[in-house]
Amino acid sequence: MAPNQNCAAILVLVAIACLVAGASAGADENQRGADLFRLCAVCHGENAGGQQAVGAPAIAGMPQWYLEAQLKQFRSGNRGTHFDDLMGMRMRPMARSLVREGDVEAVSAHIAALPPVDPAPTLTGGDVEAGKVLFSTICITCHGPEAAGNKDMMGAAPLNRSSDWYMFRQVMNFKGGIRGSRPGDQGGALMRPMMMQLKDEQDIKNVIAYIMTLGK
Ligand code: HEC
Ligand code: HEC
Repeated sequence: MAPNQNCAAILVLVAIACLVAGASAGADENQRGADLFRLCAVCHGENAGGQQAVGAPAIAGMPQWYLEAQLKQFRSGNRGTHFDDLMGMRMRPMARSLVREGDVEAVSAHIAALPPVDPAPTLTGGDVEAGKVLFSTICITCHGPEAAGNKDMMGAAPLNRSSDWYMFRQVMNFKGGIRGSRPGDQGGALMRPMMMQLKDEQDIKNVIAYIMTLGK
């Protein structure tokens, strides 16, 4: 073989080795994400569609950036450390069990790739039309017209695949300072004053009833 051909052959081999290594690193991450998800499924359900009985919301198909951001919120204690946050305290140790570097990303990628589940409404008495007015005047700027969330708006959450009973609890948590009041919780700090504009439970039910019609 001429030297040039040798070089070419080596380059091809290196390229193949790199491709194989890259593919298997990806496969390892996929496997790791699937393995970690076994734990999450206990509460969030096999399809990650949520289980109201244990207070775990639907998370299937949510954007990866949002899942990662919230797992970090739990890990840092911005969520799940307030004395009255019983549900958050249930979740926080789960987020902290993701100990290996890359675990948060791997499990988030796995959940983001699951088919979204649209949870059925459970709340009654919400007025969709009145909720639309509230949503279009208060929430739309950050959460977007379809409530699909906005990473660039301090990570405004996607709401259109969420469970209504879970959103109700989160709004109450923000209002009560159970979520969003820790120093350094910038996203939460954005949300709290917005929630103060919802004057009573009826307002909250109305806006959630409207959100439940979006993104279907
Ligand atoms: C022991 C039950 C339990 C297990 C296991 C569990 N979770 Fe949760 N998770 C919850 C509860 C309860 C909440 C709601 C917390 C709240 O109301 O503030 C929650 C909330 C979340 C949220 C926030 C969703 C949102 O819309 O902001 C994410 C993300 C999440 N869990 C991911 C996971 C992942 C990933 C795993 C597996 C590593 C996992 N959970 C395991 C109970 C659990
Ligand atoms: C100024 C921007 C902004 C506005 C306006 C806003 N939000 Fe939010 N919202 C956020 C951010 C940022 C988060 C994520 C907070 C975090 O990281 O914990 C959030 C989170 C939420 C959550 C929690 C979702 C989850 O999965 O845990 C709900 C529910 C919610 N918003 C509802 C509303 C409703 C309803 C309105 C209008 C009445 C509204 N928001 C207006 C920025 C906003």
